[in-house]
Amino acid sequence: MGAISDETGKEQRKAMKKVEDSRTEQVYVIRSQHINPQGRLFGGYLMQWIDEMAGIVSRRHCGKMVTTASIDNLNFKAGAYQNDMVVLVGRMTYVGRTSMEVRVDTYVEDYRGNRRSINRAYLVMVAVDEEGIPVEVPGLLMETEAEHAEWAGGEKRYLLRKQRRAEGY
Ligand SMILES: CC(C)(COP(=O)(O)OP(=O)(O)OC[C@H]1O[C@@H](n2cnc3c(N)ncnc32)[C@H](O)[C@@H]1OP(=O)(O)O)[C@@H](O)C(=O)NCCC(=O)NCCS
Repeated sequence: MGAISDETGKEQRKAMKKVEDSRTEQVYVIRSQHINPQGRLFGGYLMQWIDEMAGIVSRRHCGKMVTTASIDNLNFKAGAYQNDMVVLVGRMTYVGRTSMEVRVDTYVEDYRGNRRSINRAYLVMVAVDEEGIPVEVPGLLMETEAEHAEWAGGEKRYLLRKQRRAEGY
C-alpha cells in the first residue's frame, strides 16, 4: 500500500461529497447483438455495463482514477429481452480510506415508465494514482435515512470483505 503524505490526507479528508453528487443513470436498448441463444440479454454485457457504471460513479465521487477491486451480490433476478429498455442506476453507499462501495440497480422500463428490477450489485472501487497505488477518497455526506441505512450495510460488507481476505477467501 502506498504512503499518503499528512498534507494530502488532511486535504482529502476535508472534502466531503454528497451521494447525489455522483448518482448516475444510464439507459440501453437491447439489440440483437446483446442477445444469447435463449433470446435473453447476455449476462456478460450486463456485467460490463454494471462495472462501467460503478467506474463512473466512483470517479465522480473521488475525482481520480479508479479500479475495480471486487463485485458482490451480483444477483440476476430476471431476464431482459430484445427491444427492452434497460436502465442502470448507480450510487455511492460507503467509503473507506481509499475504497468506495457503489450500488448498481438494473431495471427494465416499460412503455409507461414503470421499472422492474432485474439486478442489484455492489462493487468496490479503489482510487489509485498513476502507479496504481491506492489514494485517499473524499468522505460521503448522507442526507436521507435510506442513505444512512445503505452506509450501515456498506460498513458491514466492508468488514466482512476484510475478514474474508484475511482468511484467504
Ligand atoms: C484494488 C487494488 C488497487 C488494491 O491494492 P492493495 O495493494 O491491495 O491495497 P490495500 O490493501 O491498501 O487496499 C486498498 C483498499 O482496497 C480495499 N480492497 C483491496 N482488495 C479488495 C478486495 N478484493 N475486495 C474489496 N476491497 C478490497 C481495501 O479494503 C482498502 O480499502 P480502504 O483503503 O478503504 O480501507 C489492487 O489489488 C489492484 O490493483 N487489483 C487489481 C484491480 C484490477 O485490475 N481491476 C480490474 C479487474 S479486470
